[in-house]
Amino acid sequence: MFIGLDIGTSSVKAILLDENQNLVGSASEPLTVQRPHPSWSEQDPDSWWTACEAAMDRLAAEVPVAMAAVKGIGLSGHMHGATLLGADDRPLRPCILWNDGRSAKQCAELEVSEPKFLSLGGNRVMPGFTAPKLQWVRENEPDVFAKTAKVLLPKEYVRLKLTGEHAGDMSDSAGTLWLDVAKRDWSEELLAATGLTRDHMPRLVEGSESSGQLRAELCQRWGMTSAPVVAGGGGDNAASACGVGATTPGSAFVSLGTSGVLFVTNDRFSPNVESAVHAFCHAVPDTWHQMGVILSATDSLNWLAQTLGRKASDLTDGLGSVGSASDVLFMPYLGGERTPHNDVAIRAGFYGISHETDDKTLTHAVLDGVAFALKDCMEALAVAGTKVERVTAVGGGSRSTVWLEIIASLLDVVVDVPADGDFGASLGAARLGQAAAQGSTDGIFGAPPMRTSIQPRSDLKQAYADAYGRWRTLYPALKQAGF
Ligand code: XUL
Repeated sequence: MFIGLDIGTSSVKAILLDENQNLVGSASEPLTVQRPHPSWSEQDPDSWWTACEAAMDRLAAEVPVAMAAVKGIGLSGHMHGATLLGADDRPLRPCILWNDGRSAKQCAELEVSEPKFLSLGGNRVMPGFTAPKLQWVRENEPDVFAKTAKVLLPKEYVRLKLTGEHAGDMSDSAGTLWLDVAKRDWSEELLAATGLTRDHMPRLVEGSESSGQLRAELCQRWGMTSAPVVAGGGGDNAASACGVGATTPGSAFVSLGTSGVLFVTNDRFSPNVESAVHAFCHAVPDTWHQMGVILSATDSLNWLAQTLGRKASDLTDGLGSVGSASDVLFMPYLGGERTPHNDVAIRAGFYGISHETDDKTLTHAVLDGVAFALKDCMEALAVAGTKVERVTAVGGGSRSTVWLEIIASLLDVVVDVPADGDFGASLGAARLGQAAAQGSTDGIFGAPPMRTSIQPRSDLKQAYADAYGRWRTLYPALKQAGF
């Protein structure tokens, strides 16, 4: 038996798989995000642990026989979050999350003062990433910075609670921007640019390797007969890739979660900093990946649902099927954008609202706007020489068939939909736990059973190509007007 524990932005999910990767149990606990100032986004690290404990307690109560036989645990989590710990391993402040935009000034300065962020780190210095956040803390909260003994990513804080170890996997660690991504090792130069050393960092392991064992008191609490190994695991995107079998070069997925991601596996480190493509290590050895990331995917739909006083699923169900692209255009930039614009200041908007515009039209516009932003990611990957023809869909938004039809038709790709789309990252984490327990990756990362495959709709292709052409003129026009 193997457990996958995913620390998502909006919830913690724990799943239990048997040796054949069948789902034996699952439990989920909600999390909240705090936004104390415009463009800030934070979470209390202890809320992750409280949610993990509750989810694991529930699994232990519901499937005790299976829990007793757990041999491996894998972790995944939202990436880039700066969790600052004092010498006593207690958090010094709330974690600054992946979609926090406060460090734009520090990003611009770091790109000039240390050009190796672009070459060794392989990415633009963007406010989502961890390094500029530490520079912000260094400048704005010097007392906290001085007390910082360790900087951990969210799932590494949970690992510390589970095992007592400071360890991090390659995929998540690449997202700090302190990693020499080609070498899969911390870069002393990049750390020094933000006033840190290797001592502030956790020990590195591959995602499919063991990072330690579950502490004895937790084994007892959850009824495990022997201590499971805890695998390195992966950042949520690399873990999702492991969950859908996207570990071989060229394999790809699209994620419709809080963020939106177009992810492709590579056999080598393949940066394209110009278009703000993310180039990181994968969670399996000797493998890398590229991805385009948009900050508000289901977040855009949830914002609309909240504003209209409706449920997001009611909005998409109410839309039914679509016969064309929406006449109303939506820019999904609620909290700025990463790929391809790297722009924390840009904000969302609708264009083309008329007397006839209703909830349905706004919903359609939001689904289209997110799809257009993913098409931008695809274009950015194409500039980096990467062609995507088939993707697997993961994340909560992949429950909407109409959204996937829009994406398939606009991106001109076949979209495979797993039977359990919602379990992407936790499934990948459980598989990494299985790899660490068996000591090899052999036979573990196949494609899961698919519910359906969505083909591009020929009746939509031209309308969406035209609408995308119109939509992409909006961003430069807004920038020219000083937005
Ligand atoms: C990736 C990113 C998000 C988070 C949250 O760079 O910031 O996808 O991992 O899911």
